[in-house]
Amino acid sequence: MPAATVKAIQVPHAGGADAMQLVDLPIGEPGPGEVRIRHHACGLNFIDVYQRSGLYALPMPLTLGMEGAGVIEAVGAGVTHLRAGDRAAYASAPPGAYCEARVMPAKCVVQLPDGIDFETGAAMMLKGLTVQYLLKKTLPQGGLQPGDSVLFHAAAGGVGLIACQWARALGLRLIGTAGSDEKCALAVQHGAEHAINYRREDFVARVKELTGGRGVKVVYDSVGLDTFEKSLDVLQPFGLLANFGNASGKAPPVDLGVLAAKGSLYVTRPTLFTHIATRESTQAMADDLFAVVGSGEVRIPVERRYALADAAQAHRDLEARLTTGCSVLLP
Ligand SMILES: NC(=O)c1ccc[n+]([C@@H]2O[C@H](COP(=O)([O-])OP(=O)(O)OC[C@H]3O[C@@H](n4cnc5c(N)ncnc54)[C@H](OP(=O)(O)O)[C@@H]3O)[C@@H](O)[C@H]2O)c1
Repeated sequence: MPAATVKAIQVPHAGGADAMQLVDLPIGEPGPGEVRIRHHACGLNFIDVYQRSGLYALPMPLTLGMEGAGVIEAVGAGVTHLRAGDRAAYASAPPGAYCEARVMPAKCVVQLPDGIDFETGAAMMLKGLTVQYLLKKTLPQGGLQPGDSVLFHAAAGGVGLIACQWARALGLRLIGTAGSDEKCALAVQHGAEHAINYRREDFVARVKELTGGRGVKVVYDSVGLDTFEKSLDVLQPFGLLANFGNASGKAPPVDLGVLAAKGSLYVTRPTLFTHIATRESTQAMADDLFAVVGSGEVRIPVERRYALADAAQAHRDLEARLTTGCSVLLP
């Protein structure tokens, strides 16, 4: 029988990191289509900040966390792809991963290959599956071919360092941006062809210079407010701006006429949760991610580990741009 309660990190209301509390929550048996997983590690993601702060409005009190890895303790009726005792990992709504164990929908939980440890599993699912759909499914007209140039903002972050490596494996010429020279060096070490310190340099001019004036086919922009409009200026005709995050604030509304004036551009605002809406799509994307990690072409950069109880400090560090690569919380 499971313990009747588990430790979890909750916020009673939207606000700063100080609002985060370590609480005891009841835990029960999984219902139909659910599993109970005991976490060995939980992933830290910028979406957790949006949900905590209220940028993404969710019912409160809220147990944070969208990513984890551990061992399946029990499965509910109708769950056939997992069994008690399996090693498993997930990226999934609803939030609730910042805890020792949880009951959750099974459809986004997959078996974790034996060669991948729990910390890596917890760090790679949300961020790695995001890179999977960005580089393989969020494409300009005609797709991306080896040798094509793309711009990836925040290239030294969790998603960013995975993207640098995966882009290199695909033969893409990834130009990264990052907020310090040290972060730029890290992005290059991980496979970016060039990296631009966008706190110091005008990234539009630099990208034009690096591409012989042609610009890039895609900009992957998770910074949002600070970079969105300038990102339109580095695209080739028919290029694609994929705004997939808001680290500096939400991107402004788009005047469609601007897209015509700047070269028949495309803009999209994708989210992982559309891509992992079914068990089949989740498994297919996870298999692709496990293959590229298993081959050694992508190494998941777990740079920081925090005790679950120190989740508020992890949030402060992430928001202050102090982290690079991935961070995990250890229950
Ligand atoms: N739509 C989706 O499906 C999806 C899925 C996963 C993640 N995301 C988004 O992808 C981004 C990366 O996620 P992550 O968890 O890997 O985070 P992260 O990249 O490790 O951290 C965010 C980074 O954004 C940069 N940044 C720029 N301006 C900032 C500001 N004003 N405040 C804070 N950070 C700022 C910082 O890097 P520099 O100092 O180098 O600028 C910071 O390290 C986030 O925006 C996240 O929401 C979207």
